[in-house]
Amino acid sequence: MIVCVCKGVRCSRVRAVIGDGATTVDSVGAACGAGTDCGSCRGMIEDMIEEALEDGAMARVDGRGRTHLHVAQPAA
Ligand code: FES
Repeated sequence: MIVCVCKGVRCSRVRAVIGDGATTVDSVGAACGAGTDCGSCRGMIEDMIEEALEDGAMARVDGRGRTHLHVAQPAA
């Protein structure tokens, strides 16, 4: 499913970016472009970040102090 029509970014890409540590809408946009044009998808991206955090995402901090989240993928 496409989350960001303007940039053609799929749900799976946004989840991957969140899993790599993007925990704000702006950081998701910086990583994949989602939410950086008209902005109408920003609420959906924010919901995806909140869901990932609420669903017990496993966080770890790497050697550079960056946070990485393991985000469970929904069943197909
Ligand atoms: S739909 Fe994502 S910026 Fe327009």
